[in-house]
Amino acid sequence: MAKRFHYAFAAIFAATVAGSGVALADSSDEGLRVFKAANCVGCHKWTGAGGGGYGGAAANLRKTKLTLEQIELTIRCGRISKGMPHFDADAYTDGRCYGMKAAQLGPGQIPPEADHPLRPADIDAVAKYVVANIKGQGEATLDQCHSFFGAGSRVCDMYAKRDEGGVQHADAEQQEPAEAHQHMKVDAATDSNAPHQDAEK
Ligand code: HEC
Repeated sequence: MAKRFHYAFAAIFAATVAGSGVALADSSDEGLRVFKAANCVGCHKWTGAGGGGYGGAAANLRKTKLTLEQIELTIRCGRISKGMPHFDADAYTDGRCYGMKAAQLGPGQIPPEADHPLRPADIDAVAKYVVANIKGQGEATLDQCHSFFGAGSRVCDMYAKRDEGGVQHADAEQQEPAEAHQHMKVDAATDSNAPHQDAEK
C-alpha cells in the first residue's frame, strides 16, 4: 500500500519536473539571445559541444555534469588558469569569485576577460538556457538547429540529411553550418580531420 503511494507520488513528481522543463525552454528566448550576444557560440559552438581551437578546448556543455548553480558560477567567474572567460566585469575585484582578487592571481591564472561582460540577470538567463536546451541533449538535431538559427534556416540542411539517415559523418556533431561560422568550420575540420602522418612530417 505504502509502495503504491510512493509510485503515484513519483509519477506526479516526474510529471512536475517534466512540466517545469518545458516552461524553462519556453522562457529561454532571453537566454538564447544572451548565448548569441555574449558569443558563447564563438567557443562552445551553437550546439554547445565546444571543441578545440578556441582558448584550448571549450567544454562540451551537452555533456556537462554541472548544476545550474555551478554553471552560473562558471559564467560569472570563468575558470582559474583556463580559457573560460569571466562574464562578471568585477569578478576579481573583491573576492566574490572563489575568494580571489586579481592581485592574488598570477597573470596566467586570471581567467580571460569576456569581450561582452554580462549583467547578473543575463548570466542567470544564459545559465538557465544551458540547462534547459543544451545540457544532456545528446547529438544536435534539425529542430534544435532551427530553434537556434530560425525555422527553415539553410545552414541547418546538413542536420536534415543526417536525420533522414542520409549522409552520416562520424564527426557530424563537430561540424558547423558553413555560412554561419565559416572560420570555425576550418578549425573544427583541422582538429577532427588532420591526418596524423602530416603532423609527423
Ligand atoms: C573564449 C572562449 C570561451 C567563451 C567565449 C566562453 N567559454 Fe565557456 N568555456 C571555455 C573553455 C576553454 C572551457 C573549459 C574550461 C576548463 O578546461 O575547465 C569552458 C567551460 C565552460 C563551462 C563549464 C562546463 C563544465 O562542464 O565544466 C560552462 C558552463 C561554460 N563554459 C559556459 C559558457 C557560456 C554560457 C558562455 C557564454 C556566456 C561561455 N562559456 C563562453 C571557453 C569559452
